[in-house]
Order: sequence, then structure tokens, then C-alpha cells
Amino acid sequence: MPQSTPLLLMAPPARPSLEAWLRYFDDLGLGPFYLDRTAMELPAADPVAAPPPTPAASPAPVLPAAAGPARAARPQDAVLPVVPSLFEVASRAGFEGDTLPRIREDLGDCKRCRLCQGRNTIVFGDGNSQARLVFVGEGPGHDEDVQGLPFVGRAGKLLTQMIEAMGLRRGDVYICNVVKCRPPGNRQPERDEIATCSPFLDRQLAAIRPKVIVCLGGVAAQALLGTNKAISQFRGQWFDFRGAKLLATYHPAFLLRTPSAKSDVWTDLKKVMHELGLKPPKPKPRSG
Ligand code: URA
Repeated sequence: MPQSTPLLLMAPPARPSLEAWLRYFDDLGLGPFYLDRTAMELPAADPVAAPPPTPAASPAPVLPAAAGPARAARPQDAVLPVVPSLFEVASRAGFEGDTLPRIREDLGDCKRCRLCQGRNTIVFGDGNSQARLVFVGEGPGHDEDVQGLPFVGRAGKLLTQMIEAMGLRRGDVYICNVVKCRPPGNRQPERDEIATCSPFLDRQLAAIRPKVIVCLGGVAAQALLGTNKAISQFRGQWFDFRGAKLLATYHPAFLLRTPSAKSDVWTDLKKVMHELGLKPPKPKPRSG
């Protein structure tokens, strides 16, 4: 089927929402969409996985279709490797020379989705605007919502330790989330919330142009890769993300609940270190 026909063939209930979605991206200057991607084979969807968020930073040509029997080969099941580079994304969208302060300004006192109702502070992102390494989490929690900074709670402290174990300081990297406002009760962000926020994440990544993006947890990985596979099926693997290398690993909050998964995460982070030419710091001699 030609990739340009899904809008015409889409079941009626899905069409208005897709049209609104496309108009919204148009308003942001983020069209045209990439209709020329080929799907990479991924294993079948995990039936117990959480429902997939909408492909976020890679606006796909089709939103999830209305109910229908066919589960195979849906666009959101696929990782889409043939994509423009982060630089091309910015320039095609008219954001050449985009900067984080400008993106923050465009975000403004955002009321584009329902998450604004419960938030205290917008958590835009934090760190080095020229970082070679960007961590993308799910969304702010309570502490982040209070402080306006990503990953400052318990999970954030563990993330800081992970970064330092890689021989970096927190200020060397950039840290942000798929959604910028705290979902009520720390629930997972919903697909429309992710879709609404994703143009800003897109622009952040395109402005920073990191060498490596690490997705922390399934929500971030599913959103950026446009898949609904469970993270356990592809964590630790490299994907191309618009010219950057992307790897997903477990979320630090998951590690707090499941310390036995720390060794998997360390294995993943060592791959990232290798890619960036980093060596772990020498252990400090014990005093006394
Ligand atoms: N969890 C996230 O995914 N992001 C944060 O900023 C904090 C906790």
C-alpha cells in the first residue's frame, strides 16, 4: 500500500484526531512528515506490555488505527531506521540554529494538554546544551515537579551515580523527559500527552545533536522508537535515531525496586562508554 494513503483508508473515528494532530504539528512548523521510512523487523509485541505510547519524536504518518483485527505490521510496532539526521530534522522544520532557550520560550506556560492542570512546574530539561550524551526519561515525578529539574528525586540520585560511574559528571550530559509536566499520581503519560509534548523533545534533541541518546525505561524508548515492544525485548541494543545512536535501558526507578537488574544496566552503560570513548574512573582510595 502506498504510504501516502493511510489517511484516506483510516477508519472514520481515527481520522479527525489524525487531522487535528497533523494540523498541530503544522502549526509548529514540524511538517512535512516522513513518508518514506521502511520498517525494521522487531519481535512480536509483548501482550503484557503496557499500551504503546504514540511514536513521539518521530512523527509517523499514521496514528494507531481504530479497532481492527490486524495486529501485524502496524507502524507503531516498528522501529523506523531510515530517518533524517537530527540536523536535517531541525533545518527541514525551519528550526535551523534552534537553541534550547528558544525552545523553552516557545513552550511557554504550556497548556497544550491536560497535564498542565496538575503540574506545579514545567520540567524542561537540564544539563549541557552541547552534550554528547542525552538521557531521556518518562516524565517528572513529585520532586522534579517541585524543583523544576529532571531526575532530582531518589531515581535521580541513582541516575547521577550511574553517570558518575561512567566517568562523567551530571553537568556533562543533558537530561530530559518525554513529557514535561508531572502526570497525576505518577501515572504513565498517555499517548496524546506524549504526542503533544514530543515536538519539543524533538527540537531539544535536534538542537543538542548528541552522539548517543539513552532512553531510560520503556515509555521513553517506545516513544522515541515508535514501537510498543516491551523494553526487555530490545534493551541494550543500538538503534539509529536520526543520525544519533540510541540505546534503551531500564529506568532507575525500576532499579530501585529491582536491584538485580543493575548489572544489565551497567552492561548497557558500558556499551555507551565504549561508543563515547569513556573509561570508568579509578576507584578512590579509602581514607583511614
Ligand atoms: N522519572 C523520570 O522519568 N523522569 C524524571 O525526571 C524523574 C523521574
